[in-house]
Amino acid sequence: MGETSSTAAESVDRARSLLRRARRVVALTGAGVSAESGVPTFRGQGGLWRQYRAEDLATPAAFAHDPRLVWEWYGWRRGVVSGCAPNAAHAALASAAAAHDDFRIVTQNVDGLHVQAAQHVRAMPLELHGSLYRSRCTRCDHRWDDRGTIDATSRETLPRCAACGMLARPDIVWFGEALDPSVLGEAMRLAENAEVCFVIGTSALVHPAAGLADLTRRHGGSVIEINVADTPLTPTATVSVRGPAAAIVPDLLAS
Ligand code: OAD
Repeated sequence: MGETSSTAAESVDRARSLLRRARRVVALTGAGVSAESGVPTFRGQGGLWRQYRAEDLATPAAFAHDPRLVWEWYGWRRGVVSGCAPNAAHAALASAAAAHDDFRIVTQNVDGLHVQAAQHVRAMPLELHGSLYRSRCTRCDHRWDDRGTIDATSRETLPRCAACGMLARPDIVWFGEALDPSVLGEAMRLAENAEVCFVIGTSALVHPAAGLADLTRRHGGSVIEINVADTPLTPTATVSVRGPAAAIVPDLLAS
């Protein structure tokens, strides 16, 4: 059952006590967790998909049609994100994951900020949708860390595979593509076993990521949602806290 009407303070207390009691927690994050770091979200005011068409930039067909334009856009995003730092929510989640092996972070974000915040954690955050800082060969599937600036002045200057010389692409899951089965399998296992799915800053519109909270709920766990607005998860969440992640997440996780 979802939440009945309760005050903001009651929601915060309830969320805090669920998190304190839980041994196994999966934190599922979306673009909202990075909003206060200055990374644009996708939907909502100022969202990237309000200004750009995903069909032109984030699909295999778009890349086949115009790899230069797609690389130019990802190069621009890499530049924007390079100027952003993890915020207090990333830091609090990283501390919780460092302190408890069974506190795991699963993110839809490709901005690398959870990884940057989590330098000393044994189990690194799972990046469901890939990373802006990785490239992958379009022929031999070789993947590599790539933090360089992108020269998208022509097709000839685009990143190429170090192994076979073929055109490279961003190592990001585009619309119409499947998630890496091993990454998704691990995320599903974590969600099924979690006592709490701690959902932060996602519109919960993109599947399969959006289905992970339901997986926790159907296996008897609780769902805590932190967001500045209602989402499709709100009606069935055990508790929803309205407000910005960088203020609320550290408060809920403080011991
Ligand atoms: P969205 O942009 O769809 O949603 C961001 C969510 O964060 C919204 O629900 C906002 O209300 C909320 N939000 C904004 N600022 C916040 C703040 N300071 N604190 C808490 N919440 C806040 O982003 P995602 O749900 O992550 O896919 O989008 C899912 C996927 O769609 C992305 O991974 C991306 C996109 O297309 C790929 O790139 C493959």
